[in-house]
Amino acid sequence: MYIFKTVQDLQHYIRTQKKQTKKIGLVPTMGALHLGHLSLIQRAFQDCDLVVCSIFVNPTQFGDAEDLEKYPRPIESDIEKLEKIGCSALFLPDVTEVYPKDLISPTFDLSGLDKTMEGAHRPGHFAGVVEVVHRLLDIAQPDCLYMGQKDYQQFAIIKHMLGLMNSSIQLVRVPIVREEDGLAMSSRNVRLSPEGRIKAQLISQMLFEAKKHAIHMSLEEVKQQALAFINQHQLEVDYFTIIDGDSLEIIDSFDKATIVTACTTVRVDGVRLLDNIILRESI
Ligand code: PAF
Repeated sequence: MYIFKTVQDLQHYIRTQKKQTKKIGLVPTMGALHLGHLSLIQRAFQDCDLVVCSIFVNPTQFGDAEDLEKYPRPIESDIEKLEKIGCSALFLPDVTEVYPKDLISPTFDLSGLDKTMEGAHRPGHFAGVVEVVHRLLDIAQPDCLYMGQKDYQQFAIIKHMLGLMNSSIQLVRVPIVREEDGLAMSSRNVRLSPEGRIKAQLISQMLFEAKKHAIHMSLEEVKQQALAFINQHQLEVDYFTIIDGDSLEIIDSFDKATIVTACTTVRVDGVRLLDNIILRESI
């Protein structure tokens, strides 16, 4: 696997590959890679000749300097995992490569997509995500971009951004990878106590039940069942919401959207665990 630390080196590689009409996929990450990230790379190889993974802990998406500092950076084991899976290239820039002094990042009207759910708890977070993903796309010029469904709101916002850019980059939503007990894979899971780990299973259980109920119940009934589940198990929920999966607006009936998604964030041991499930999707 090639490892590029500068924009210039990565771009030289990509230009050379493009001359040979190679199709390029980009998987942006902040490292601390788990099977969820690796599934993005595997998915990218289904469509692309080459897959570039970026590892960059983006300061502009952190509200708190301490969180940024504490973010795990197990780079040696990340490289090992990427090599093992056959990733073509790793882009491992430092802050000055991504944000040189003279860089002017465009701003996008996110139409309020950044204000609900996670956005309400992390002001400015999605503006930072948009800034870095736009910059990484500008650097790497991929044909396809792979993002996980786990961060559903992030995916929807990047889709919106690509629409505003009139971009021809194909955005692919890659399904959530779960632990055996159903817990969505996340670098935050290691912060759970053994008791917390057991409690955390309830999150996916709630979402799977909602999906089952969605086959024969109204949306309001599905919501009521989920709220009863939350009360019964005394889950500390930041939000549980059923939304139009594109506009992220709360809806009250399944026929109001082509994709209907239930999103939740639950606190266990003080750790905010995000999860979601697509209840219905019309093709
Ligand atoms: O999902 C992440 O890991 C990050 O938000 C991303 C997309 C790599 C941007 O820094």
